[in-house]
Amino acid sequence: MTQCSIRLATPGDAEIINDIQNHYVLSSTATFHTEPLTLEERLAWLENRSSAHPVTVAQTDGGIAGWGALEVFRGRRAYRQTAEFSVYVHHAWHRRGIGRAIMADLVTRARSLQYHALVGGCCSESVAVIALLETLGFERVAHFREVGRKFDRWLDVVFLERLL
Ligand SMILES: CC(C)(COP(=O)(O)OP(=O)(O)OC[C@H]1O[C@@H](n2cnc3c(N)ncnc32)[C@H](O)[C@@H]1OP(=O)(O)O)[C@@H](O)C(=O)NCCC(=O)NCCS
Repeated sequence: MTQCSIRLATPGDAEIINDIQNHYVLSSTATFHTEPLTLEERLAWLENRSSAHPVTVAQTDGGIAGWGALEVFRGRRAYRQTAEFSVYVHHAWHRRGIGRAIMADLVTRARSLQYHALVGGCCSESVAVIALLETLGFERVAHFREVGRKFDRWLDVVFLERLL
């Protein structure tokens, strides 16, 4: 396992955050973005968020290896105690405990931010994140069929949830 510390992201992390996710945008169904985000779009995403929706990065001796975020889960006010997470680990850093460290930290942050439920919507093909979440006590609560389309294929989405 690689030692890492999880900290809040700063605007200076925008480029590596973008590089990490854009790899998956272009090469996989892990994200339903179909076009890479520009640095300007990433900076705006990073800067236009409240403290209730933090972005974190995993800092290692070798640089930033991954990132996580708590996002708004639907906009209506009654959903305000639920957050949806994102987690991305650089493709060169897989299977060294980084994703688990980012997710464990997000769970702790979500609790201290008074969220009641944490959910994640993952492509059904994303076996790594689904396995990771199940080891962290998330349960599959929904399976939407053919709601996404990328690379000329229909994609299913699985939602996993953990009550905090
Ligand atoms: C999912 C992801 C974040 C996991 O990060 P990681 O740092 O490689 O995962 P970890 O090393 O912390 O693994 C923790 C556990 O997750 C599970 N896991 C991770 N990768 C797995 C894989 N490829 N297949 C099966 N289980 C896997 C295992 O239970 C693993 O524990 P173990 O190594 O002791 O067996 C990473 O694969 C990733 O960034 N994938 C692409 C982006 C993505 O799918 N994001 C989610 C969008 S919702």
